[in-house]
Amino acid sequence: MDDDGRGEDRLRLLVRSVQDYAIFLLDTGGRITSWNAGAERIKGWTAEQIIGQHFSVFYPPEDVAAGKPAWELEVAAREGRLEDEGWRVRQDGTRFWANVVITALFDERHRLEGFGKVARDMTERRAAEEALRESEERFRLLVQSVQDYGIFMLDPGGHISSWNAGAERIKGWTAEEIIGQHFSVFYPPEDVAAGKPAWELEVATREGRLEDEGWRVRQDGTRFWANVVITALFDERHRLQGFGKVTRDMTERRNAEQALRERRRLVGHLVDAQEVERRRIAWDVHDESIQSMVAVAMRLQLLASRLPEPHASAVAGLDESVQAAIGRLRGLVSRLRPPELDRHGLVEAVSGYVDDVAGRWGLAHSVRDELTAEPSPAAAITLYRICQEALSNVHKHARATRVDLHLSTVDNGTLVRITDDGVGMAAGDAAAGHFGMVEMYERAEAAHGWLSVKSTPGRGTTVEFWLPILPDVPGLEP
Ligand SMILES: Nc1ncnc2c1ncn2[C@@H]1O[C@H](COP(=O)(O)OP(=O)(O)OP(=O)(O)O)[C@@H](O)[C@H]1O
Ligand SMILES: [Mg+2]
Repeated sequence: MDDDGRGEDRLRLLVRSVQDYAIFLLDTGGRITSWNAGAERIKGWTAEQIIGQHFSVFYPPEDVAAGKPAWELEVAAREGRLEDEGWRVRQDGTRFWANVVITALFDERHRLEGFGKVARDMTERRAAEEALRESEERFRLLVQSVQDYGIFMLDPGGHISSWNAGAERIKGWTAEEIIGQHFSVFYPPEDVAAGKPAWELEVATREGRLEDEGWRVRQDGTRFWANVVITALFDERHRLQGFGKVTRDMTERRNAEQALRERRRLVGHLVDAQEVERRRIAWDVHDESIQSMVAVAMRLQLLASRLPEPHASAVAGLDESVQAAIGRLRGLVSRLRPPELDRHGLVEAVSGYVDDVAGRWGLAHSVRDELTAEPSPAAAITLYRICQEALSNVHKHARATRVDLHLSTVDNGTLVRITDDGVGMAAGDAAAGHFGMVEMYERAEAAHGWLSVKSTPGRGTTVEFWLPILPDVPGLEP
């Protein structure tokens, strides 16, 4: 008995001091008869201020007008308890979102003694839920309106259950037309016959996701090249709920890639044919013209040694012209067929060329060699040709006083930088009908490398290019 009394005291103390719940009692008429710390914290009134007042002060005017407080007590009295969520009013007039449980209290003879009321302030949780709902709604809107991706859902059996704007744009069907249909309508007949749609769902279910690229069919029967990702959607108990499917139309990219590959193949052929032709001409010039001119020069020298003056001097003069012509032809041959490339490697060949031409053009020059690997013969020829064109441009256009070359090995490739201190050029200077630059770009790209030209008017030009060391493999993906 004593113990019971202390227990009850302790319980009363607990109720009085709980902060998170407003716990209070109403008499049968709805007047407040007790008040705890939580009620004061949540609603604002102190016990002295509120005890004796009718609990309808907690309700917004519209609820009071609708008779809600009285109705709630009626239901609680009839059914034993009532739970409600809704707006309530604090002492200072602000509102909060409350979860309220009203419990009817009966004595042992089943007469209503009053009500116990427990209220919680759920404003923050409600705000969090609201925020979540809003962000989900925004996300749904985003998915709905995305144009570049077809995003839709399938039920576990493969029937379409949602559809977005991108799916309509890419595939042609409207949501009304397609929802409920089986997704195999997107596959070409041969894929359907081979059981591909079902197989894709199986794999996605087993592995969580599946990515595929292939032909798909639009509503009008035309085909497009699609990139497809199917993701299996499981609930928290790991039961399959369906599939999410994201589709992109890659037709244009595929066409562009094919066109690029084709162009590179052609440029590669052209460049090869050009090299072969240049070598042939070089051999012809060397074997026929130079050889016979050398023979002529020898005869002239012999003749000059046997003739009296002034004929000897005249013939010697002829011999000089022939020697000069031979020199020019040798220069032509070496430009057509750079011989040092095969024998001494790239740096030697490029240095030789720069020494030769920059010397003749009166340009200060330097070659910095930081190569740690020799490029393949095919790459070396391309590198050499690009250097030739870049240097001839410096000569023809730059009005520079010096040109500097830097060769290094970077990223399994050869990086070459050619810098002049000339007049530079404005963007878009590459005039129509000039093919030197275009050819440099094409050569670099055909060899799976890149080339860039940086220039500021008045501040010189830098041509930089990189080619992989490995020989060009035709048809290799970039
Ligand atoms: N180093 C440079 N300094 C200044 N201008 C340059 C330089 N390199 C190229 N240019 C400009 O870019 C233009 C295009 O060069 P490109 O090599 O394509 O043609 P080109 O040399 O005039 O003719 P070709 O077809 O014989 O090479 C040049 O006409 C020139 O105006
Ligand atoms: Mg040029």
